[in-house]
Amino acid sequence: MKCIVHVSPVNLDELYFTGKTIVVIDVLRASNTIIAALNNGAREIVPVGSIEFAVKVSGGMFGGHTLLGGERNTKRIDGFALGNSPREYTEEIVSGKSIVFYTTNGSKAIAKAKFSDNLFVCSFSNISALADHLVRLNLDFEILCAGRNNSFSMEDSICAGKLIARIQESDGELVLNDSSTACLSLYGTYGGDIFEMLKNSDHGKLLIENGFEEDIKICSEVDNVKVIPFFRENVVKLMQNNKSS
Ligand code: MLT
Repeated sequence: MKCIVHVSPVNLDELYFTGKTIVVIDVLRASNTIIAALNNGAREIVPVGSIEFAVKVSGGMFGGHTLLGGERNTKRIDGFALGNSPREYTEEIVSGKSIVFYTTNGSKAIAKAKFSDNLFVCSFSNISALADHLVRLNLDFEILCAGRNNSFSMEDSICAGKLIARIQESDGELVLNDSSTACLSLYGTYGGDIFEMLKNSDHGKLLIENGFEEDIKICSEVDNVKVIPFFRENVVKLMQNNKSS
């Protein structure tokens, strides 16, 4: 297998992803919010690339079964039922619901990669479940880091490095390019204390300033779930039989 990492989606267009196996990573916080929502029984997440489109899409869906979720500048958007804190997506609130989801980087990265053959959502919390699945698939894959404002982010690249390290435990022949080698090395240097690393990242500092330190703790948890969110036909759902607690 070969693995390429993109540290941001900015230089890629939608058609680039056609036919590929892609792993989208947005550690702070979209990946974890999607994982929490689906693990707590949400029917599906509909990732969109703009707030206007989110409002339009939700208008065409069943009122009582659809919620708008997401953020601008880390905060809940006016008129949206939910923000982008994994803590908001409890079973009571999301069970059985479709969630139209817009975030500054994460939902946009997923929407951009919509022509992929396989598209998975990853964070530290489901990294081993996804690593094992990729080894079973035995296909070349590319990791798309959502990054931050069209630029590099430490947390997504280090998560990419950890996913690569975890896969190498099963597949010693995994072929890396320069960017995947760099992510692996970053993980080796900064991956010892994920919570500390997240708190010291640019986005982590902003989340702390805005009162979301508790979310950073949640996003630092490693392998506490076995769920694999999978994008198909415009929605993200759980792959069968992998709800976990
Ligand atoms: C994003 O998609 O940009 C992030 O999830 C932002 C956030 O932390 O709310």
